Amino acid sequence: MGTSVDLSINLGGLKMKNPVTVGSGTFAYGQEYNSYFDVSRLGAVTTKSLSLQPRAGNNPPRLVETPAGMLNAIGLQNVGIDVYLKEKAPWLREHGCTIIGNIYGASPEEYAELAQRLEAEGAADAIEANLSCPNVHNAKTARGCTLVAQDPELVKAYTEAIRAATKLPLFIKLSPNVIDIAEPALAAEAAGADAISAINTITSMGINPETRKPILSNIVGGLSGPAIRPVAVKLVWDLSKVLKIPVLGMGGITNASDAMQFILAGATGVAIGSYTFRHPTAAMEVIDGLEDYCQRHDVAKITDLVGAMEV
Ligand SMILES: Cc1cc2nc3c(=O)[nH]c(=O)nc-3n(C[C@H](O)[C@H](O)[C@H](O)COP(=O)(O)O)c2cc1C
Repeated sequence: MGTSVDLSINLGGLKMKNPVTVGSGTFAYGQEYNSYFDVSRLGAVTTKSLSLQPRAGNNPPRLVETPAGMLNAIGLQNVGIDVYLKEKAPWLREHGCTIIGNIYGASPEEYAELAQRLEAEGAADAIEANLSCPNVHNAKTARGCTLVAQDPELVKAYTEAIRAATKLPLFIKLSPNVIDIAEPALAAEAAGADAISAINTITSMGINPETRKPILSNIVGGLSGPAIRPVAVKLVWDLSKVLKIPVLGMGGITNASDAMQFILAGATGVAIGSYTFRHPTAAMEVIDGLEDYCQRHDVAKITDLVGAMEV
């Protein structure tokens, strides 16, 4: 023990002092969690998806526990880009945080505008485009898809539009609800994405048998937490086999051992999402645990372990 470990990573051009960020939508804009730990210790803070206008989200019930995770249909509630720029980003900057600005729009133009404004105001160090939210009512695309992330042609068009609007590192966040995640990922890479974030929640639902009503007001929501971890690890592995750009892996991470599964499967960075609700300091423990893992395994640089699964 005691030997220093280099935990720093370069995630598609975003320099992070360690591989750990938070899942968009599980950390708001960081302020509330600063009473639990110094949020600037994170490799980066990922914001809740930001839209051009504030959004109230879906009506309750919109969040329920499941046996090993949670089901949510928040519906992209957020303060909107103006409030973020005026109140949230300055706070994150004052506290020395590296910021991944997650964005959601109804068209390529809206995504482009959001990215451009975040860059112009110095309010993000990287952009993560959420093309995969299952909790909003999207019209079906020409191919019958309900998410942009399910249609490689759309992923290409959206990525190109955002790419043209910003020089910041651009991460495209994909959905697990596809037959082959390599297709949208390769489309994003070809269109100029610098990294792929995976996975968003898995489309799911529940019914109360007594009332015969859906558990969520939106009927359908997204499953997250430990239940989805094996799915997420497999998809990160699928991605790392075909991509040249790095992967930001997430889905059910609760501790450093879980995070290591993602790194060994090929993720350069990791995000802690739902588990933060149960255990607010989880991300800090993951950072410390990764350092401890490297020391125990005599590894000087965490990046030496990316994709180092032995088969
Ligand atoms: C309550 C809640 C809200 C979320 N909101 C967003 C969001 O606004 N944008 C986004 O890209 N992902 C959102 N996600 C997805 C998470 O960022 C993450 O991809 C997913 O939950 C898997 O990680 P986890 O199992 O560690 O939670 C949300 C997840 C939860 C549980």
